[in-house]
Amino acid sequence: MAKRVTKKPPTKVDEKTMKSLAKKASGLGDKKGDKRLQAITNRILLDLFKTMQDFKITPDEAWTAVSYFGSLGHEAGLLTPGLGIEHFIDLLQDAADAKAGLKGGTPRTIEGPLYIAGAPISDGYARLDDGKDKADVLMVSGRVTSTNGKPLANAVVDVWHANSMGNYSHFDPSQSKYNLRRRIRTDKDGRYTFRTIMPVGYGCPPGGPTETFLKKLGRHASRPSHVHYFVSAKGHRQLTTQFNLAGDPLTYDDFAFATRDELVADVHRVKDKTRIAELGLDGPFNEITFDFELQPNKKGAPDSIVRRDRVTIG
Ligand SMILES: [Fe+2]
Repeated sequence: MAKRVTKKPPTKVDEKTMKSLAKKASGLGDKKGDKRLQAITNRILLDLFKTMQDFKITPDEAWTAVSYFGSLGHEAGLLTPGLGIEHFIDLLQDAADAKAGLKGGTPRTIEGPLYIAGAPISDGYARLDDGKDKADVLMVSGRVTSTNGKPLANAVVDVWHANSMGNYSHFDPSQSKYNLRRRIRTDKDGRYTFRTIMPVGYGCPPGGPTETFLKKLGRHASRPSHVHYFVSAKGHRQLTTQFNLAGDPLTYDDFAFATRDELVADVHRVKDKTRIAELGLDGPFNEITFDFELQPNKKGAPDSIVRRDRVTIG
């Protein structure tokens, strides 16, 4: 009678098995597939398998995660900055720029998911609000220059921000079309000016997947008051940035990691009667001055334009 060999079941999944499964699942080495996608998928799967084993992820936890990702929908655009991934993309771009020898200029920071393309365009000046929101008036002005200080005429300052409830037009259907969104062409001295209302920082939708996840991590899901910009000019690299308002309790505690020291704007209260009268206002208003410095195009520089799904409204 042959001797029965009883093989001890493994108490751990060995690395060879993990590597083999990740390789097959990612199609690594298959000539028909996209090589870069295969390599990245293989790496992510292998890291995930190791994480699952090291943290003894239970089947219930694994399926909770699968349901979670399925529930994200358009909030994927909020979770990405919330987990620092959008800021990390900026850091990678900064490093690539430094490697290409690019220096100076206003720092970039995240775009966020609430841009709408095609806002009305005007020369030198625009009023962004439709007059319905009775928040304090805010006047913003500044200059767009090249890194050598030369003013950039006809630069396009594409600006958007939230209302006094922390909501963005279009995504908040109670606001008028393109409310608090405009494009302004700079004048011959590179100047732009706009009149608007004081924005308020926003939180991710209460009870939504982003807030729920961040709360479980012990974090909040709110941003300080801020104003977004795309700034572009002929012969220069496009800039995606924003300023965060100084004095907001979350200026240095932004869930989306968008605050950079150079991008904090001081708000001045203007009480001068002549200036109030010039603007036709009833009383004091707020004012911010914010200049932009763009880097000239350079051969071999990384692309400064980010392509992603964005909403366009007709
Ligand atoms: Fe925003």
